[in-house]
Amino acid sequence: MGTIAKKPYIMPALSEYAEVAARLRVDSVSLRYQSPKGETFTALDQVSFEVPDQQFAVIVGPSGCGKSSLLYLTAGLNEPSDGAIYVGGQKVEGPGSDRGMVFQGYTLFPWLTVRQNIEFGLKRRGLESSEINTIVEFYLAEVGLKKFSEHYPKQLSGGMMQRVAIARALANDPQILLMDEPFGALDSQTRLQMQQLLLRVWGNSKKTVVFVTHDIDEAILLADRIYVMGARPGRIKEILDVPIERPRNLEVVMEPEFIRMKRQILELLHDDLEEVH
Ligand SMILES: Nc1ncnc2c1ncn2[C@@H]1O[C@H](COP(=O)(O)OP(=O)(O)OP(=O)(O)O)[C@@H](O)[C@H]1O
Ligand SMILES: [Mg+2]
Repeated sequence: MGTIAKKPYIMPALSEYAEVAARLRVDSVSLRYQSPKGETFTALDQVSFEVPDQQFAVIVGPSGCGKSSLLYLTAGLNEPSDGAIYVGGQKVEGPGSDRGMVFQGYTLFPWLTVRQNIEFGLKRRGLESSEINTIVEFYLAEVGLKKFSEHYPKQLSGGMMQRVAIARALANDPQILLMDEPFGALDSQTRLQMQQLLLRVWGNSKKTVVFVTHDIDEAILLADRIYVMGARPGRIKEILDVPIERPRNLEVVMEPEFIRMKRQILELLHDDLEEVH
């Protein structure tokens, strides 16, 4: 046909990534656990990748491949056995408010109201109360919870609690937002609503996000780039750019490009399951 063959999954705009500083750099990270019998188990083996600034990175992979371990290491809640993780060029050496976290289990403080949960980190950082108010009002509106600001977590639905968790994490203006299956416990309808909300909020904040999910549709809908992991030992198998334009809505699941990517990811995950059995 005379056309030059292009590399799959790379849009022209993505070539600019190389010039953008990596917000997250995972450098040859291995993680080993000692079993009670004294055997060594390698949860992560020499994992290296970068997430450019303002990117939405999604990690998928079979259960037990080390997705949560990787996020915990990035959060500074655990230390790698080898290698290092850098956020904004700084080596991770412990937890810090520069990394916002939204995990599956509802992690709000039950004794604080929605507003108090969102302002918690801001107060600890010693911001002026007028500034805190402005930030809290902004994020309450972003996640559609203005009317629920004085409610306690037990008075909210699961989806609402995760919206508070997202607002709380973003209110601290972190360098990076780490999300571990944040919608995993929600029913499918609420999950779809949350995905759309997250797309909108992320579009406004343009934070760098690392999002872990089991749900391939969710991964393709949200991601700029998908990191497919393999298990035993946990490692990055493939990195795929998602060539679907933004803004995206739930109808993208019908697009040929979406279906093609879904098939490719399923095949990669299927290979891994065959390796296990
Ligand atoms: N504290 C620990 N001690 C020993 N082994 C652990 C520990 N934490 C995790 N592991 C093991 O490390 C591996 C990776 O666990 P991890 O929770 O990171 O997987 P995952 O990819 O998040 O899985 P899932 O999709 O089921 O959430 C698993 O085999 C797990 O059993
Ligand atoms: Mg996990």
